[in-house]
Amino acid sequence: MTTPSDWTDVLSADALKDGVPKMVRVGTRRVAVLKDGDRLSAFDDLCPHASDPLSQGYPFEGAVICRAHGWRYELSDGRCTMGDRDSRLPIHDVRIADGRVEVRLR
Ligand code: FES
Repeated sequence: MTTPSDWTDVLSADALKDGVPKMVRVGTRRVAVLKDGDRLSAFDDLCPHASDPLSQGYPFEGAVICRAHGWRYELSDGRCTMGDRDSRLPIHDVRIADGRVEVRLR
């Protein structure tokens, strides 16, 4: 069982394409991992608006845009800055260790 303090190996760092979110599983939870230039992010793969997978969205200036209705979530803290501003996307810790991407749920 995965606890919030665990790092989980999710995939090879080589499997990430720049600017293309990738869905992974951490336990039973769907998480999207995104490499955008030098920045690596991990966030719930479920748009808080209507549950579209954000792994099908696209990065834009430090945010991810949902393909369904265009809501925008800042990857620094999950704030919604286009859409319902009270909405927040869960952001997770992510790192690369020995060529592997690891995620820790918050
Ligand atoms: S489901 Fe993501 S903006 Fe509507």
